[in-house]
Amino acid sequence: MAKTIIISNRLPVQLQIGKGTINAIPSVGGLATGMKSVHKGGESLWIGWSGLTDEDIHISLAPKIDEALAKHGCTAVNLSEQEVEGFYYGFSNRTIWPLFHYFMEYAEFELDFWETYKSVNQKFADAIIAQSDDDDIIWVHDYQLMLVPQMVKEKKPNASIGFFLHIPFPSYEIFRTLPWREEVLKGLLGADLIGFHTYDYERHFLSSVRRLLGLEVSFNEIYLQNRVIKVDSFPMGIDYNKFSNAAKKKMANAQRSDLQEKLDSHKASAPGTKLVLSIDRLDYSKGIAKRINAFEYFLNKYPEYQEKIRLIILAVPSRSNVPQYQLLKREIDELVGRINGELATVNWTPIWYFYRSLPFDSLIDLYTSCDIAWLTPLRDGMNLVAKEYIATRTKGTGVLILSEMAGSAYEMNEALLINPNNFEEQADTLKQAITMPEEEQANRIEILQKRLSRYNVEVWANSFMETLIQQKEESPARV
Ligand code: UDP
Ligand code: G6P
Repeated sequence: MAKTIIISNRLPVQLQIGKGTINAIPSVGGLATGMKSVHKGGESLWIGWSGLTDEDIHISLAPKIDEALAKHGCTAVNLSEQEVEGFYYGFSNRTIWPLFHYFMEYAEFELDFWETYKSVNQKFADAIIAQSDDDDIIWVHDYQLMLVPQMVKEKKPNASIGFFLHIPFPSYEIFRTLPWREEVLKGLLGADLIGFHTYDYERHFLSSVRRLLGLEVSFNEIYLQNRVIKVDSFPMGIDYNKFSNAAKKKMANAQRSDLQEKLDSHKASAPGTKLVLSIDRLDYSKGIAKRINAFEYFLNKYPEYQEKIRLIILAVPSRSNVPQYQLLKREIDELVGRINGELATVNWTPIWYFYRSLPFDSLIDLYTSCDIAWLTPLRDGMNLVAKEYIATRTKGTGVLILSEMAGSAYEMNEALLINPNNFEEQADTLKQAITMPEEEQANRIEILQKRLSRYNVEVWANSFMETLIQQKEESPARV
């Protein structure tokens, strides 16, 4: 029977070696949480990196690792420490990630990184070639694997290959600065269907293809000598029922978790007290430092809210070997320390800051207990946290403040959309959120919930797959 092969750098679980045991920890990030729901429903095999390096894996552990991954329908591409350095921390996260998020000053153009990226992409492609049958559908994910489609197509010209980019595709003016720009585009063009979160990213990609490769592009199709490639936007949804049902279950449960008790006690401290939530990986693209500065600005502009509002920041550790992430961690630690030190009173700490990841249940506690979600990425491919917050607001209250630089803003016009660089606007919008009548909250949330429940992650995956199958039928490779 034909199967779908999902391929991404990050598997839905990460392995950790304990004393003679192997533990599988859920992965963090939109790709993993979203695709996990797609993967569990169907006949698919997920190929990716386990998070361990060859140096971590003693030969005696190898069968246990395979077994642990097989339980999750996964199989590993093994990487050495040196490969992880050059491919993952290097080209993926010190070159492509900053460049594609418009942080040009952070992008490093190192030949060594590029060489390792190529060879590791070849490793992933080889794993697909070895493990796929001719009628399988191959779905490659994200910026770490942009050369894989072409590498697979070369060996399997009839394979159906889809590629989805989970981050922004930058404008031509940014993309053109990449020394290996043609190679990256050609790598992607091995796919039959290339998907993006938004129409803008799609447009940027097509413009780069036209201008850098001189290929014929008509509407959203790219014409090669022997086949046609389709490019389209597919805004990724969430597993809506999973979040909504978990929230409903919480509401129905009279027993409160410790975290809920803590959050409730703050709200009980004075009438009208508000909890404001932000959840992100600790990443410079998420605008966490600017948000904290904007919060301080708000507290100074509207001092009547001091002692009546608390900002809860959940920053999930991410890519901590990359210098920019280490610097950011230090900056945020200092900012939170300074602001809490300057403004706290005996009854009040303005910012609660957690640097860790939380289990699903605790995320639901945070989503359901906080009156406002405040998400201010400077650039974000999509931002699923915004969608998850809305899905958990089953009582119809809550306000979402969302950066217009997030891909999800295109589908969430009923949120309060802000420019994260504008502190005046952020402070005023926070006040608007605090004072928004419940009826208005309910009206906005109802529209958002309807949209998000309709375009959930399953609909997203099906629509990508159907388009891929149709594309292959209409434009088979002529070899
Ligand atoms: N998340 C998680 N554990 C945490 C915090 C967040 O699994 O402790 C999840 C969150 O539920 C969401 C994802 O991480 O599904 C973040 O996705 P998003 O698209 O917002 O940003 P990304 O990290 O992909 O840039
Ligand atoms: C974003 C990327 C994913 C990545 C995730 C977590 O969502 O689009 O490809 O997996 O961040 O980052 P990490 O580097 O830990 O995989």
